[in-house]
Amino acid sequence: MRVAVTGANGLLGGEAVAALAASGHEVLAIGRGPCRLPPGAYRWAEADLGDGASVERVLREFGAEAVLHAGAATDVDACERDPELAWRVNVGGSEQVARACRALGARLVAVSTDYVFDGTAGPYSEDDVPNPRGVYARTKRCGEEAALVLVPDCAVGRVAVVYSGRQGAKATFATQVVEKLSRGEKVHAFSDQLVSTTLAANGAAMCLELLLETTYRGVLHTSDATVLDRVEFARRVATEFGLSGEIVPVRTADVKLLAPRPLRGGLRTERAAALLRTKPLPIDEALRRFRAEWQRRGA
Ligand SMILES: NC(=O)c1ccc[n+]([C@@H]2O[C@H](COP(=O)([O-])OP(=O)(O)OC[C@H]3O[C@@H](n4cnc5c(N)ncnc54)[C@H](OP(=O)(O)O)[C@@H]3O)[C@@H](O)[C@H]2O)c1
Repeated sequence: MRVAVTGANGLLGGEAVAALAASGHEVLAIGRGPCRLPPGAYRWAEADLGDGASVERVLREFGAEAVLHAGAATDVDACERDPELAWRVNVGGSEQVARACRALGARLVAVSTDYVFDGTAGPYSEDDVPNPRGVYARTKRCGEEAALVLVPDCAVGRVAVVYSGRQGAKATFATQVVEKLSRGEKVHAFSDQLVSTTLAANGAAMCLELLLETTYRGVLHTSDATVLDRVEFARRVATEFGLSGEIVPVRTADVKLLAPRPLRGGLRTERAAALLRTKPLPIDEALRRFRAEWQRRGA
């Protein structure tokens, strides 16, 4: 099958390309610049989700039969500073991808976020009504609708607090916990943000299974299975890596942040657990795999 991935240099997209390249599918990896992934059995195309047409053109030329749309402007505070860019990439980019899938009759899974919820009553199920706050959250919610309206058979896979130990993957809260505690530095973590997390490799595997092995329509929560606050997440990372050191609890209201953060967030994942072979991981198993990825970095 001809399978395309947007956001291919990203945490989730990179894992998806790696998994697909080992699967025998014909794979097109799409990123906004040069490829930063290890070489493998895929082709690379540069295209900008924010320019109105180039990703759509690339997908049509490839003749995509299935598309994992994992590209997005993901820096929530940068989105707040530049709403036009956030709109172009997260709404316009999703629209481009959806238009191409509609024209080609391609299966689509669009990746989205727990931030579509306002964080007053989490953890949330797929049936809960979104109420996004802030530019990132609102553009992601509109991106979901672009996909769901233009490609009614598509699925939206929501993830949260993505992390990866893969060589070359970008820094995240989880990798910063490891690096800072290893250097003997303190880690500051929000004590009042209840979240789900997502090991990128497992989130990508769930989204790919959803894309290629199911006809599921609508939203599915494809994060890890455990909901916890960020201090607890940092503690679990430290324990898994055998690191001691100070984890300093911080309250969200005491830090100057541009974009609002959902406080009682988190995603319920029972539906994905029932539907998919690849299961949402309990946090201890997710972190065991994260450490294994980390250890392979230098190898
Ligand atoms: N990261 C999280 O904690 C998180 C949480 C909830 C939901 N999500 C969602 O999960 C999905 C995957 O994100 P991720 O975690 O893999 O984050 P990521 O590592 O930031 O990946 C996003 C990718 O999109 C690419 N991109 C940004 N602007 C683009 C543009 N104008 N044209 C083409 N590509 C562009 C980025 O390119 P560069 O690599 O060149 O920057 C990056 O590779 C997104 O839909 C995101 O909203 C992420």
